[in-house]
Amino acid sequence: MTKPLTSHPAAEWVLITGGSHGIGLALAQECQRQGLGVAIVALPDAQLTTARRLLTQAGLPPVRFLGLDLTAPQAIDRVVDWLAEERIALHYLINNAGFGRGGLFEHTPWVEYRTMLQLNNQVMVELIHRLLPQLKAIRGGILNMSSMEATLPLPYKTVYTGTKGMVYNFSLALREEFRHHGVSVSVLCPGPVITNEDGLRRVEAQGARARLLVTMPEDIAPEAIRGMLAGKAVIVPGRLIRLLVGVSYLTPRPLRMRILERLFSRYRDTPPIVSTAPPAALPSSAVNT
Ligand SMILES: NC(=O)c1ccc[n+]([C@@H]2O[C@H](COP(=O)([O-])OP(=O)(O)OC[C@H]3O[C@@H](n4cnc5c(N)ncnc54)[C@H](OP(=O)(O)O)[C@@H]3O)[C@@H](O)[C@H]2O)c1
Repeated sequence: MTKPLTSHPAAEWVLITGGSHGIGLALAQECQRQGLGVAIVALPDAQLTTARRLLTQAGLPPVRFLGLDLTAPQAIDRVVDWLAEERIALHYLINNAGFGRGGLFEHTPWVEYRTMLQLNNQVMVELIHRLLPQLKAIRGGILNMSSMEATLPLPYKTVYTGTKGMVYNFSLALREEFRHHGVSVSVLCPGPVITNEDGLRRVEAQGARARLLVTMPEDIAPEAIRGMLAGKAVIVPGRLIRLLVGVSYLTPRPLRMRILERLFSRYRDTPPIVSTAPPAALPSSAVNT
């Protein structure tokens, strides 16, 4: 693997899954700004090449890349071996890779749900399980990517919402358990973030209300990384999103769910997925929130 040209030594390293694009890339850039060396695992494609160009620059902390489908068999073994080969002792782990899909529950083929559950949940749990000895030894930190949807579960994005609820509850519980050995666990719950052309088109079509809520990856990254470095439990970037989440807690559940169903009923019209695309083809048309 080619080593980057960099003159800036990193005292501490972070591993970021899905750090080649969208929020993950913005988190990687923010980590570099904070002086962290960055190890990225993402699909081996054009986005990884672009990320390599953006992050490998003289004067910036070092960065390493592993092109890998994290849902492939033995993928986590490969990540652990790679970190050892690169002599990277991790201080932080950011479980960011994930994707979602909108539409009627039965319109998405099972094979795609299986990949979603695997990437959004299983990969995260396995990585933490495997890397915990390193993180414990160094008293490091973990940042898990959930979503505002963990507290505002969305009809028509049921499985995605469920995976993000799992990330949220798992992170809070793990945080208390890990308190005993000094590894901090934070969970990030962003609102809608524009990370692809599709998302941009959807927001433009939805008008002013949607535009008020959406953010760009670079808007949320500084708050996310500050929160992780400070060992904050729950990070909800943006005042408006925090207000929405707060108000949702005050609204009785049946009413809250009816309102959410109304607001997101447009997803009912999402056409059924007929082909079962491999994971590498998913993110461009995927819906995250
Ligand atoms: N966007 C939102 O509105 C939003 C809101 C809340 C939470 N989130 C969560 O934030 C995370 C990132 O979302 P995003 O919108 O930034 O997504 P994105 O732009 O699609 O980026 C996803 C990243 O994960 C990588 N990836 C996808 N599948 C992978 C696999 N099987 N193995 C390894 N890497 C894989 C992608 O690689 P390639 O670039 O090569 O495809 C990319 O680097 C997700 O967990 C998402 O659920 C997103």
